[in-house]
Amino acid sequence: MDSFEINKIAGAALGGVLALLIISNVGDALVSPKHLEKPVYVVEGVEAEGAAAGGEAEAAAEAPKDPPVEQLLASASVENGQKQFAKCASCHTVDKGGAAKVGPNLWGVVGNKHGHMEGFAYSDAIKGKPGNWEYAGLYEFLRSPKDYAPGTKMGFAGLKKPQDRADLIAYLRAQADSPVPLP
Ligand code: HEC
Repeated sequence: MDSFEINKIAGAALGGVLALLIISNVGDALVSPKHLEKPVYVVEGVEAEGAAAGGEAEAAAEAPKDPPVEQLLASASVENGQKQFAKCASCHTVDKGGAAKVGPNLWGVVGNKHGHMEGFAYSDAIKGKPGNWEYAGLYEFLRSPKDYAPGTKMGFAGLKKPQDRADLIAYLRAQADSPVPLP
C-alpha cells in the first residue's frame, strides 16, 4: 500500500465524518427542535408546571370559570337534581328524620349551619367552618369537597358540571320543612 492509497482511505474516512457532521447540523437547522411553552395535551385536573411554579396570573386565567350559581339556579331542574342525588345516596339519606349513613342526613341542609345534623361526628373541617350552607358555598363544596373544606371526611371527588351541581342544590333545597328562598 503506497502513501497515495493511504491518503485516499484517510480522505474517504474524513469525508464520511464531515458528511455526517453536515447532515446532523443541517438536520437540526431544518427541524430546530423547540420546547413547547405549554403542554399540548392537557389532562384535566392536573396542574401545569408553570402554574405550580408561581405563574399565578396565568393559572387564574386558565382556571375554569364556572358561571355563578345564582344564574344556574334560575333555570335549574329539580328532576335532574334528584337523578344526580343517586351519586350521594350511598352515603346520605335526605328524607325527613332519615338516619345517618357514612355521611349525615341532608334534610334541611341548605341554608342551615355547617355540620347541621345533631349527633353526627363531623370533621373539624366542616364543623369549624363559620357561617351557613349558602348556595355559593354548597356549589363550591360539591365541585370539590376537599378544596372547600380541606380535611373533610366526605370521600367524594366532586361534580364537575356546574349545571348538575346547581340542579342538585335545587333538589336539596326542596328537601326541607321550609325551603330557603332562591337567590
Ligand atoms: C363516600 C361517602 C359520601 C358521598 C358519596 C357523599 N358524601 Fe356528603 N358527606 C359525607 C361525609 C362523611 C360527610 C361529613 C363530612 C365531614 O364531617 O367532614 C358529608 C357531608 C356532606 C354535607 C355537609 C352536611 C352538613 O350537615 O354540614 C353535604 C351538604 C353533603 N355531604 C352533600 C353531599 C352530596 C350532595 C353528595 C352527592 C353529590 C355527597 N354529599 C356525596 C360522605 C359522602
